[in-house]
Amino acid sequence: MSQASVEAAILKALSTADEVQSTQLAKQLHTDHQVVVGAAKSLESDNYIKSEMGQQMVLKLSHEAHEIIEAGSPEYLVWEFLKDGRKSQEEVTSKLGKETTGVALANGIKAKMFKTSKEGGKVFLERVPGSDSVVDAVREVLKKAAAAADQIDAKTIEMLKKRKLATVEAYKTFTYTKGPSYAKERTAKAVGDLTRDILMDGSWKERQFKEYNFSAQGAEVDGGALHPLLKVRQEFREILMELGFQEMDTQHWAEVSFWNFDSLIIPQQHPARDLQDTFFLSKPESAQLQELDYVERVKTMHEACFRTPWKMEEATRNVLRTHTTGSSAFVLHNLAKHATRGEDGKLHFRPGRYYSIDRVFRNEEMDRTHLCEFHQVEGFVIDRDISLAKMMHTFDSFFRRIGVSQLRFKPAFNPYTEPSMEIFGFHTGLNKWIEVGNSGLFRPELLRPMGFDDDVSVMAWGLSLERPTMIKYGINNIHELFGHRVDVRFIKRAVIARY
Ligand code: PHE
Repeated sequence: MSQASVEAAILKALSTADEVQSTQLAKQLHTDHQVVVGAAKSLESDNYIKSEMGQQMVLKLSHEAHEIIEAGSPEYLVWEFLKDGRKSQEEVTSKLGKETTGVALANGIKAKMFKTSKEGGKVFLERVPGSDSVVDAVREVLKKAAAAADQIDAKTIEMLKKRKLATVEAYKTFTYTKGPSYAKERTAKAVGDLTRDILMDGSWKERQFKEYNFSAQGAEVDGGALHPLLKVRQEFREILMELGFQEMDTQHWAEVSFWNFDSLIIPQQHPARDLQDTFFLSKPESAQLQELDYVERVKTMHEACFRTPWKMEEATRNVLRTHTTGSSAFVLHNLAKHATRGEDGKLHFRPGRYYSIDRVFRNEEMDRTHLCEFHQVEGFVIDRDISLAKMMHTFDSFFRRIGVSQLRFKPAFNPYTEPSMEIFGFHTGLNKWIEVGNSGLFRPELLRPMGFDDDVSVMAWGLSLERPTMIKYGINNIHELFGHRVDVRFIKRAVIARY
């Protein structure tokens, strides 16, 4: 039955009666109760009718109950089978099955339909004398329940429930009465959308349109979402800019060994330049170096100062950069290159503060806190006579803004910095000191080939972006933050980072 005809039937029923029941209507119309409820809801939303909710208990017969209605109850079937006299339990079982026999025994003996006796270790069944005209009481009750459940008394219902022949379910029912806009017939339903068809056939002139529902909950807007790492990066960027840092161009992930290692005076035999630690590129395997006079001065530094062999072949090998410090070296070299040497013989460079936040790659064993790639927050400050105290102060200003107000510094070693310090921050959430970065003053052996004088100092540092992001969002496993196992819902839900 279509919804329109059910709607019509409801309106018609109310034209002769003050109220009608949803259950009654369903029965009359030979349709599902839910269909009536649905049609009535639609009428109610247009004020044709009003409804009041009630509850009805409904007796639901089980599959087994329907089988009994069909064929008779197990106890009756056994009783029937015993009409020619007593039979062994084995015989009964092989005729009616184990289950039926089991149920029959439990109920038939209680109902005094048959009894058991033992003989020679065997169990026998026979009718109770005088029970020749037994009726299948359970079957009769079930037939009645199927036809008119409301005529079954509470005690019988309990029995049926106990035998798992029926369950009682609560049902929402409705009483319908005329509404403020009641009419015997529904006028054309108000439409929600002005469609092309309505415009074309001109029916928009007569049609009624639904009013706007300003309190309706709109569909969720499913737009894109920024990854938490990007949010934290943006936040860090803004903090660094406030502190006077400018961003370096670090968009290239592939770097030539010269900038990644040699310019930072990392010897060519250094373990960091091993396959175990670094991803080397095979296509193209190497790159051509520019600035050959600078390259020559770097070579001399390696050979003469550190007495480590240096080969062009090694310097031109391409790698996925292992840090962004090569970019710092590149920017520094350019600063020196574009500075002019004054009459005093000194290089007049522009002091400055630089940073970058970008991806780096390391050939690492992956675990809960390590991936083969991560993001480095890199920075340096170039000026004359930078002291350790000034460096510590800069870190303090930055970390304070991201919520780490207690810092500790630990002497460390880097091939390209002296002194070097590991930076630890006190994490109030975890209640312990954690390493947040590595830093130091670039060695003069690194700055001299670029052309800087010896009183020029560069403080530099590298932090990971992932660490503070994991802390910020309470993530313990890096795979939940980065990579193919990330749950997109987490990305969408992650709030913006505010430090
Ligand atoms: N490049 C170092 C790293 O990858 C970080 C660093 C940068 C240390 C600059 C000192 C100076 O861990």
